[in-house]
Amino acid sequence: MAILVTGGAGFIGSNFVLDWLAQGFETVVNLDKLTYAGNLQNLASVAGNPAHLFVHGDFGDAALVARLLQKHQPRAVINFAAESHVDRSISGPGEFIQTNIVGTFTLLEAVRVYWGTQSEANKTAFRFLHVSTDEVYGSLAKTDAAFTETHRYEPNSPYSASKAASDHLVRAYHHTYGLPVLTTNCSNNYGPYHFPEKLIPLLIVNAQAGKPLPVYGDGQQIRDWLYVKDHCSAIRRVLEVGRVGQVYNVGGWNEKPNLDIVHTVCALLDELAPRLDGKPYTDQISFVADRPGHDQRYAIDARKIEQELGWKPAETFETGIRKTVQWYLDHPDWVANVQSGGYRDWVAQQYEKTKASA
Ligand code: NAD
Ligand code: DAU
Repeated sequence: MAILVTGGAGFIGSNFVLDWLAQGFETVVNLDKLTYAGNLQNLASVAGNPAHLFVHGDFGDAALVARLLQKHQPRAVINFAAESHVDRSISGPGEFIQTNIVGTFTLLEAVRVYWGTQSEANKTAFRFLHVSTDEVYGSLAKTDAAFTETHRYEPNSPYSASKAASDHLVRAYHHTYGLPVLTTNCSNNYGPYHFPEKLIPLLIVNAQAGKPLPVYGDGQQIRDWLYVKDHCSAIRRVLEVGRVGQVYNVGGWNEKPNLDIVHTVCALLDELAPRLDGKPYTDQISFVADRPGHDQRYAIDARKIEQELGWKPAETFETGIRKTVQWYLDHPDWVANVQSGGYRDWVAQQYEKTKASA
């Protein structure tokens, strides 16, 4: 038995693969294109594990995906692969359309064909789990109710529009072809292996490097934050007991204005790694031009997954953010390699020997 994961060398995907293998579940075939966001160093601890079969490739390569499905006969496909950074989608939307929409479509087609060849029992047991985002629902005003699964789709950035399109394709493959799909729409994740172009890891590495801590606009935009391991446990729960065809919103009930996040990270660094000059890290805060079309507020109503599937996050924001800051302080080599681009050599240095043949 195996599962096929796409994008398993990225932030959430690698946390998912590590947790999955640590819990002794079945083999993971991990298909990742290793874009700038894919980092095999995240998976260094499982490099010799025969239950982890890494395949360097594109989930939009129909022939490759078909071969992998035939060879490994997975009972489930979990789709993490995406272009994920909103700012990059604003400066270069084309890659987001190609990866998030065309790539997901190509994957769905290959999976549909594979699924159609399975026995009735395997067809019933099979799952395609699509990992999506709360950003598809658009932006909330301060007093609006949090996003439920029936909230209207109103994506505002090329990133969220491309994720919305992929969600619709997944839904259509269930409705039209009967493919047993599940979709999760999660809020902002944070934790180990987060690429330092996103707010929280950027703050930690910039603070330590003595660089400015950029706050877009007035810093009063609100996000709901979830520790990445809790997102991974939610995905496992949905995979095992989620109702086919359903959507589950995943969130931490942790709405915070960005400026609060900045102050929290600074306070933790003041405590755990104080500046040599004794001054507070908040001195490095720098208000910069706002993100075009910046969504004001996201908030997740997670009652469906909690009440129906019995999932709850294990971390509070306070415990999760402390662990996260400590993880970055404990892993200066990982940070240095990401910043220098040295992580891109990891495949050649460490991983070729265990790479699965496609
Ligand atoms: P990430 O950018 O860190 O990782 C994306 C991974 O996908 C990388 O390893 C990259 O190499 C891989 N990839 C990109 N294009 C590919 C292709 N064509 N074929 C195969 N692999 C490819 O992203 P992340 O933050 O880990 O997000 C993972 C998923 O979760 C995404 O679908 C994202 O939309 C969703 N999501 C993210 C968050 C968050 O806060 N980060 C929250 C909710 C949902
Ligand atoms: O809500 C889920 C989404 O969360 C995921 O779907 C995305 O893949 C993920 O990247 C994340 O999107 P955001 O745009 O919310 O994350 P980001 O870390 O880029 O920004 C968080 C907030 O902080 C946002 O309001 C913009 C702001 N920000 C960001 C950066 C990078 C700053 O103020 N300064 C910064 O330098």
